[in-house]
Amino acid sequence: MARTSRFPGFYKVTVHERRSLVGDATGADPVEIERSLDAGGLDADTADKFVENVIGTYALPYGVALNVRVNGHDHVVPMVTEEPSVVAAASNAAKIVRDAGGFTAEADPPLMTAQVQLYGVADAPAAASRIDARAGEIVKLANTALGGLVARGGGAREVETRVLADDVVVVHVIIDCQDAMGANLVNGAAEAIAYLLAEIAGGRVGLRILSNLCDKRCVRVSCQVPADGLATDAMSGDEVVDGIVNASRFAELDPYRAATHNKGIMNGIDAVVIATGNDWRAAEAGAHAFAARTGRYRPLAVWRRDGDHLRGTLELPLALGTVGGTLRVHPAARLSLRMLGVTDAQVLATIAASVGLASNLAAVRALATDGIQRGHMGLHARAVALAAGAIGDQVERVASMIVEARDITVEGARKALSVLAAAVGEAASAVD
Ligand code: MEV
Repeated sequence: MARTSRFPGFYKVTVHERRSLVGDATGADPVEIERSLDAGGLDADTADKFVENVIGTYALPYGVALNVRVNGHDHVVPMVTEEPSVVAAASNAAKIVRDAGGFTAEADPPLMTAQVQLYGVADAPAAASRIDARAGEIVKLANTALGGLVARGGGAREVETRVLADDVVVVHVIIDCQDAMGANLVNGAAEAIAYLLAEIAGGRVGLRILSNLCDKRCVRVSCQVPADGLATDAMSGDEVVDGIVNASRFAELDPYRAATHNKGIMNGIDAVVIATGNDWRAAEAGAHAFAARTGRYRPLAVWRRDGDHLRGTLELPLALGTVGGTLRVHPAARLSLRMLGVTDAQVLATIAASVGLASNLAAVRALATDGIQRGHMGLHARAVALAAGAIGDQVERVASMIVEARDITVEGARKALSVLAAAVGEAASAVD
């Protein structure tokens, strides 16, 4: 059965009902959903096996982005984030994109780079040529440290040398990590070859570690939406397209704006990276280094007008795994992959990047139209309504009333609650 990512009214039902809707749509077992997500899915004893000096765990909200269609496939996308509006904004923008056919995305093969620094080299260019000439032997040695990976079809592929200074050569070994993120594999291979490299170069071994600027493992996403799909109550679709293109131009001209533009993209990507048990610091390091690769910090996504359509494109390096690491031990991370219906790390990267482009579209559309505060205001109002004691349906109604009255305070929400209670009392006596 084809999966859907459309659940109209999802936000209106209870957490329990949402779990069962997601379970039905994705085939995830409702009992597993309950077990994996209650209390953050991780008890202190399990956490104690992850890191050192554990005294507890720290939970974050786990939501799902809806309407995400990538290369013709729908996905319910888990997102872990503490920031209000991020999940709703990504879902809303993904709906606009889905109505226009969805995201188109492709990911490079899962190639990571191991770096070995050699220093104290007498003649760096000559040393680099000697290393290049023995590339086959170096690849073979690296693969001795990568037995399991080689058996799965991956392993070291090629050697590159770079002369960084008169006496410094850095050697890159490019490793196909298959469905693993690959950090441990790559670091192991770097250590395995380092002393052979130093001997060939006639220098000393420096650092042996992966590079997080994994620019051979990029993902590219695009979407194209008709102007009409972007219209707001106050602005025509054409005006919104112009506003978004103008926002993109601002980010392309100014690193101060580009940083915030990219932060909005990473709001979506990081949330998926965390939910799937991946390393979000690695994703961040790669993204920002890539954004600055020309010597000037630039936006990772840009927006252009194409006739009466808006076209967005995003490119960034993204090293994600669907095996190993945290996934081995974190039940919620395993559940996330099952909900996504994904075992291929490249597919996971296309989905995470699509959510990044959706987040960016939502942000620049809001900024080019109402400003970002209005959406935030609605969520804030709901939190205030809850704090004033609203329950069930009352939450939405009280939130709308206090936004309308421009009095988003607990006192304002209490007043709204008494107005609602009085209205219910009147309706009841009318029936009597
Ligand atoms: C807030 O988390 C993200 C935004 O600032 C992104 C942007 O400005 O594009 C809204």
